[in-house]
Amino acid sequence: MTSALVTGATGFVGSHLADLLLDRGWRVFCTVRRTSKLRWLDGKPVERIDADLRLPLELPEVDVVFHVAGVVRGETVEDYRRGNWLASKHMIEAARCRRFVHVSSIAAVGPGCVNEGSPCRPVSDYGRSKLEGEREVWKHRDRVPITILRPPVVYGARDEGLLEMYRALAGGLRPEVGRGKRISIVHVRDLVEGMLAAAEHEAAAGEIFCLANADTYGMAEMMEMILDAIGRRRALRLSIPDRVVRFLAGVAEDAGRFVGRVPMFNRDKAAEMTQPAWVCSAAKAERLLGWRARVPIREGLREMLEWYAREGLLTFDLRKAGC
Ligand SMILES: NC(=O)c1ccc[n+]([C@@H]2O[C@H](COP(=O)([O-])OP(=O)(O)OC[C@H]3O[C@@H](n4cnc5c(N)ncnc54)[C@H](OP(=O)(O)O)[C@@H]3O)[C@@H](O)[C@H]2O)c1
Repeated sequence: MTSALVTGATGFVGSHLADLLLDRGWRVFCTVRRTSKLRWLDGKPVERIDADLRLPLELPEVDVVFHVAGVVRGETVEDYRRGNWLASKHMIEAARCRRFVHVSSIAAVGPGCVNEGSPCRPVSDYGRSKLEGEREVWKHRDRVPITILRPPVVYGARDEGLLEMYRALAGGLRPEVGRGKRISIVHVRDLVEGMLAAAEHEAAAGEIFCLANADTYGMAEMMEMILDAIGRRRALRLSIPDRVVRFLAGVAEDAGRFVGRVPMFNRDKAAEMTQPAWVCSAAKAERLLGWRARVPIREGLREMLEWYAREGLLTFDLRKAGC
């Protein structure tokens, strides 16, 4: 039986990966910490290892380590650095495996239209910490075969990243930050298939891959598709210029500091939100791994709506949307 150690399995991406590995008959170890919510793991035949990755670790020997854990919404630079750089350092130092699959992000490369060869110029604390994590792991490539994966925005059940956008659109409001923004996106089911392909494929050792849908989408187009899924014809357009986003983020951050808590919407997030493009090409993954995203975007966005509604996160009558 092939064995894997998955970090971040209590979170969105890692829990889908653990499910896929169990489905395929793998023996799965998952790191959890005392504070982890075990909702996605409860009742599943995974073997738990108590570990906070910010501290030095001892790990069992497995075939593949999937280092998925990371801090995507930190309050301070230190949160990001400890969660994305230090945790990766401890994981690669302790890993005893035939393959180490490291989940990074296109935020490590930075905005624009990028691929695996693009120079890395991250624009946020999150992106800089993901790049630091990659570099730390990469130092060990002579000892452990390493594959680095850089997804763009990931969506699918168990994620609340698009919830505010769905809520606004369901409520008849269509907020548009800046103009003509374009993004890459990948459905979590496609992403975890790509992670498995990266673990199993000889050609993936020592390589970096962007895993994304072949198509890219304008933000306006994404919102149209979500409105279609919701079954709403129109929504009131609220154009928010980039400079207003930056200004509001600064005010929110300063106010947050004053009361001792930095909000999630802060200068760092605004630096990401106001970029004209976060687009990457998955051509290399298709060429070397035969991987291609398969979930049609409209189907994925509709599933997302159904999940939000089922979870009670979005007050919405699914029958209105014909679900
Ligand atoms: N979601 C996206 O759109 C996206 C896009 C590109 C890349 N990524 C990358 O994909 C990975 C997973 O993201 P996600 O969206 O699944 O995030 P998530 O839902 O917030 O899950 C994060 C996971 O990491 C674990 N973790 C964080 N710090 C830890 C620590 N110090 N020790 C042990 N576990 C720790 C969390 O454990 P607890 O349950 O204990 O908190 C949780 O299981 C991250 O590396 C992220 O950078 C995500």
